[in-house]
Amino acid sequence: MTGSTATTTPGPAAVVILAAGQGTRMKSALPKVLHAVGGRSLLGHAMVAGRELAPAHLAVVVRHGRDLVAAEVARLDAAAVVVDQDDVPGTGRAAQVGLEGLDAIAGEVEGAVVVTASDVPLLDGATLGQLVAAHREDGNAVTILTTVVADATGYGRIVREDGTGDVLAIVEHKDATDAQREIREINTSIFVFDADVLRRGLRSVTQDNAQGEMYLTDVVAFARGEGRTVRAVITDDPMTVEGTNDRLALSVLGAELNRRTLEQWMLDGVTIVDPATTWIDVDVELAPDVTILPGTQLHGATKVGTGATIGPDTTLTDVEVGEGATVTRTHGSLAVIEAGATVGPFSYLRPGTVLGAKGKIGAFVEVKNSQIGAGSKVPHLSYVGDATIGEGTNLGAATIVANYDGVAKHRSVIGSHVRTGSDTVLVAPITVGDGAYTAAGSVITQDVPPGALGVGRAHQHNSPGWVSRKRAGTAADEASAAADAGASAAAAAGAPPAGTPQNATTDDAASEGHSH
Ligand code: UD1
Ligand code: CA
Repeated sequence: MTGSTATTTPGPAAVVILAAGQGTRMKSALPKVLHAVGGRSLLGHAMVAGRELAPAHLAVVVRHGRDLVAAEVARLDAAAVVVDQDDVPGTGRAAQVGLEGLDAIAGEVEGAVVVTASDVPLLDGATLGQLVAAHREDGNAVTILTTVVADATGYGRIVREDGTGDVLAIVEHKDATDAQREIREINTSIFVFDADVLRRGLRSVTQDNAQGEMYLTDVVAFARGEGRTVRAVITDDPMTVEGTNDRLALSVLGAELNRRTLEQWMLDGVTIVDPATTWIDVDVELAPDVTILPGTQLHGATKVGTGATIGPDTTLTDVEVGEGATVTRTHGSLAVIEAGATVGPFSYLRPGTVLGAKGKIGAFVEVKNSQIGAGSKVPHLSYVGDATIGEGTNLGAATIVANYDGVAKHRSVIGSHVRTGSDTVLVAPITVGDGAYTAAGSVITQDVPPGALGVGRAHQHNSPGWVSRKRAGTAADEASAAADAGASAAAAAGAPPAGTPQNATTDDAASEGHSH
C-alpha cells in the first residue's frame, strides 16, 4: 500500500504500545488486540504505525491473553520487546512497566517516548510523526493527540488553561465534575512524553481515584506542577484516533479502513467498479490498470499485476496474479497465476497451485499443490492434486489426479503436450510422458510413456435387442423399434443404413474423449 510516510527527522527514543487491557466489551475468547481489520490485527496496526517513526526501541505491554498477544508481537516484529504488566491496574502502570522494561534492556531511555493505545486501527505513522514533530518544536514535556467529539461520555477530558490554551490536566470521566463533563475535547490515549518526565511522573502517580487505577493521564498534572509545557494537537479526523471497544466499532472502523484503502488504490490507477462490495486488505499490492469487479475480496499478501481483471465474486488470499490474467468467480489461497492465464468461473485454487503463463483453470476445477506449465489447460470439472504438469498439455473434462491412497499422498508428473481423455483417473504416483494420450474413461495405474496412448478401461460390448427383451413396452423399446423400422425401410430403398456403427479400435479410442 502506498502512503506510508518516511520520517526525515530522527525517530523517537521509544514507542510503548499499551496492550494489557482486557477488552471486556468485545465479549470474545480472543484478546481484543488480536481482532483484525484490513487483514491485520489491531495490535499489528499499532505496531506498523509505531515502526514508521523509526524508534530506537519498540515495546508492547501485555497481560490479558498474554501468550497469544506476545506471540503476535514476535510474529510481527522480532525486534519488539514484550513487557508484562503486573497486578497493578491502569494505563499508568502499563506505561511504567513498559518504560522500565526498555530501561532494563537499553539503559535509561532519554528523549521522546511515544505511548499509544493498541486498539486504534486507523492511526497511521504520519499522524504520529506530526505529533512527535510538534512535541519537539514546542519543547513540550507531554504532547497529547486529542479530538473533539459530540458525546464524550467515558473519555478523559482535556482541561485547558485560559489564555495560553496549554493543557493543565486530563480528568477521567468518572472523576470529572459536572462542569468538566461539558468538555468535548477528549484524550485519545496517544501521547509523546519526555522520558524523564514520564519516568518521574509515574513514580508520583497513585491509585487514589474513582477507578482505583494508576492513570497515565495524571502525568500531565505532574508535568505542569514542575512548570513544564503540555500541549495538545487536535486531529480533525476523529476516525484516525478512534478506539475499538466492541464489535460494532470493529466493523465501523474496518469499513472505514477499507474505504480509505480503496480510495487510495483508485487514485493510484486501479478501477474498482463497486467499492461497496469490494474488500482489500492493507498489505495487498495492485498495479495500475488492474480492474476489480463487484464482490471481490483480496486478502493477505495478494499481489495483482497490471492489466489483470479480478472478479466478480472472487476471494483471493495470498495469491499472486500476473499481468493481464483474468480471475473470475474464484476462491484461491497461496497460489500463483502467471501472466495472461485465465481462471474460473467457479474454480478453487488451494495452496501450492502455480498456473503458468497463458494457462487455464476452468469451471468446477480444484487444484492443490500442483504446478501447471505455460499454456496448459485444465478446463472442466477436474481435480489436480500434488502434480507437476508440463507445457501445452490439456486435461480432458473430468480428469482426476487421484493423489491420495487413503493413507498417504503421492506426486504425479504429467509431461508437455499431453492430452488426457475425458474422465481419465490418473492414480498417483504416476508419470505420463511428453506427448502421450489417455483414452476417455481410463483409470491409469501404470506410467504412460512419451507418445503412447494409455487405455485403462474395459472394451465396449453391445448386446443387440436387449431393450426389447428386458424393457419391453417402454418408451425406449418403442423408440428403438421405430429406429429399426426406419433403417429397414431405408435399406429397402437402397440407401446406406443410418447410424452405421463406428467400429472403434483401441487406437482411436482417445478421439472421443477430448474437450478443449
Ligand atoms: C483511556 C484514558 C482516557 C481516554 C481513553 C481513550 C486513562 C486513565 N484513561 O481510558 O483518558 O479518553 O483511554 O480511549 O489512561 N491498558 C493497559 N493496561 C491497563 C489498562 C489499559 O495496557 O491496565 C491499555 C489497553 O489495552 C488500551 C489502552 O491501555 O490499549 C487504553 O485502555 P482503556 O481501558 O481503553 O482505557 P480507558 O479507561 O478507556
Ligand atoms: Ca478505551
